Amino acid sequence: MTDHVRVYEVGPRDGLQNEKALIPTKDKIALINLLSRAGFEKIEATSFVSPKWVPQLADAAEVMAGIDRRDGTDYSVLTPNLRGFEAALASGANEVAVFASASEAFSQKNINCSITESLQRFAPVMEAAHQAGLRVRGYVSCAVDCPYSGMVDPAAVARVAGALSDMGCYEIVPSDTIGRATPEAVQRMLAVVLADIPAARLACHFHDTGGQALANVAVAVDLGVRTFDSAVGGLGGCPYAPGAKGNLSTTALVTMLEQRGFHTGIDQVLLAKAEALVASLAPQNTTTGPQHDV
Ligand code: HMG
Ligand code: MG
Repeated sequence: MTDHVRVYEVGPRDGLQNEKALIPTKDKIALINLLSRAGFEKIEATSFVSPKWVPQLADAAEVMAGIDRRDGTDYSVLTPNLRGFEAALASGANEVAVFASASEAFSQKNINCSITESLQRFAPVMEAAHQAGLRVRGYVSCAVDCPYSGMVDPAAVARVAGALSDMGCYEIVPSDTIGRATPEAVQRMLAVVLADIPAARLACHFHDTGGQALANVAVAVDLGVRTFDSAVGGLGGCPYAPGAKGNLSTTALVTMLEQRGFHTGIDQVLLAKAEALVASLAPQNTTTGPQHDV
């Protein structure tokens, strides 16, 4: 039996949050609909964050109202606080994500509070999600290094990952926010996180600034991780992480996984159509296909 790897498509959120030009809502909807048809089990569709902080996703409710829902696809959104969660619930999201950081400096820049305060802010979100029967992902940004304070101690990542797990997140997502992680650094970080959280409850989220994202996936696969985030067309970045370039390209990830004998369930013809749409919407930011041999 081939091993299944879940490719968690985050382009409509992590990609489009970073576009300088505002992408029309109808184009976001068309992109998500194409991705649904391509067979993704999980699509991170948008964020219910402050539109003052991320104007690119101010149309979150309209996007969620406009998409065609496919059976077998969960539509997830970011929720930084209870207000975001309530809007997410009203929008029909099937899953939400809270996002903490292993770096104090990044936490302040990204969500304007300390790590401890962020975890306190997530507690009512977890409670409300539990009541509503929605599953919650928990990101740990700056899992290897931070654009403001440099290298991050794996013990700090494990602490935040453990806190999110204890709060009830079903999946913890160590994230290389600025895409500078090396395979060796990922190995060191995951070894510490895995002491407390089994690989089956981890997903990895690699940006690809340094061109090492596929090599980092390979390390995590070997450690048993079976869910990876990526963005169609390699879109992406975080407006509060200077230097953070695109996420790992979904095409590159799917190609590499399938070449290694894993099953992803993604229709690569429809994925290529989604990539072409992205290229027409954000031509300067897209990357395609496998860029590195791993
Ligand atoms: P704040 O300014 O500290 O808090 O923002 P506030 O409560 O004073 O809110 C500011 C304004 O936003 C107020 O409006 C609120 O009502 C409103 P005003 O009174 O000034 O008119 N507001 C909201 N509006 C809509 N939805 C909401 C909401 N909450 C407050 N949910 C806050 C704190 C967390 C809201 C803000 O810092 C924020 O929205 N930050 C989000 C930043 C973000 O989205 N960053 C990118 C995503 S994270 C990422 O990319 C990393 C990841 O990919 C993994 C990785 O790669 O590392 C996940
Ligand atoms: Mg990201």
